[in-house]
Amino acid sequence: MHCVRKVTDDLYWVGANDRRLALFENIHPIPEGVSYNAYLLMDEETVLFDTVDWSVCRQFLENVDYVLGGRPLDYLVINHLEPDHAACIEEVLIRHPETIVISNEKAFMFMRQFGFDIDDRMDEVAEGDTRSFGKHTIAFVYAPMVHWPEAMVSFDVTNGVLFSADAFGSFGSLDGKLFNDEVNFDRDWIAHARRYLTNIVGKYGPHIQHLLKKAGTIDIKMFCPLHGPVWRTDLGYFIEKYDKWSRYEPEDKGVLIIYASMYGNTEAAASALASRLVEKGVTNVTMYDVSNTHVSYLIAETFRMSHVVLASVTYNLGIYPLIHNYLMDMKALDLQKRTFAIMENGSWAPTAGDLIYEFLDKELKEITILEDRVTLNSSFSELNEPEMESLANALVDSLKAE
Ligand code: FEO
Repeated sequence: MHCVRKVTDDLYWVGANDRRLALFENIHPIPEGVSYNAYLLMDEETVLFDTVDWSVCRQFLENVDYVLGGRPLDYLVINHLEPDHAACIEEVLIRHPETIVISNEKAFMFMRQFGFDIDDRMDEVAEGDTRSFGKHTIAFVYAPMVHWPEAMVSFDVTNGVLFSADAFGSFGSLDGKLFNDEVNFDRDWIAHARRYLTNIVGKYGPHIQHLLKKAGTIDIKMFCPLHGPVWRTDLGYFIEKYDKWSRYEPEDKGVLIIYASMYGNTEAAASALASRLVEKGVTNVTMYDVSNTHVSYLIAETFRMSHVVLASVTYNLGIYPLIHNYLMDMKALDLQKRTFAIMENGSWAPTAGDLIYEFLDKELKEITILEDRVTLNSSFSELNEPEMESLANALVDSLKAE
């Protein structure tokens, strides 16, 4: 049975939701699902924008058939070839032998690499090319590395709809609601959007900036992304978030405490620091146990917050492995412009602090590492009081100074 939504007079959402998939890209948990959005334009000629993941192909095909209502599918525009959007290309082409695929040179190369037989059905477009389908003229704009090198966006110059590929997307399935003004985005969706963007495309901040600059030159009325809600109001809200995330600027002044604790002693010290900060007036404090929190959530929170305290036990004379994994992810995503503080624990040879300092100093750009540090020998004791107090004060001063 079909499940579609009308987007504009002659544009339909024909995507589908996946609420069964545990791990997006087989790595990021998505307990609230994900939507794969595709759009069908019913002009004098019919144009399908992207396909969906194989897991929801059947629903998508039913949606496409329903909206086509027996008309041929003239064109399939492929903005992004990652299989969560491109897996059903062949299925569409088998069912619609009349369809011509519109995409760019690199995307066609990837299609061949993925084994798609499209050689006699290609219409290759380059940056700035346009195609008219009746009332609607679509311009194609490259968006390399947002999120793969072949990615492009398609802009309907007739009505200002931007098919924005992965850009302006979010994790989370759509429960009937499609548009940003049908949900409370700032309450219910922003964490999904942040975790999606920072983990999936976070590494490519300069490329997002480049796309935002291009977007600033055209009159966009609507974002139709490949995941999450369609934006038709308050576009500036989301553009501002994207601008911050892609410049690696924190959204919030506050302290994020990520701790690794084997028997609760490091956690107790981290909690003591959190309480002390709040008593000193810093109420925007958030704590996460690295062992109980998937790193994608930690990354999203790290993009949100200005200050990060890393509290780690020493393990095999090194950094606790899950803290090390988090550090490696920060490096991989090119996280920058944060202030870090360190707390370490070791019953006989605490080394984690120096090793974390060395990693941060060597691998992350434009950061500050506070020199005040708490070193625990097994547990937080009276002996640690002075350094705990000075670390709390250093964090407060640093927050005030920014
Ligand atoms: Fe949603 Fe890069 O694919």
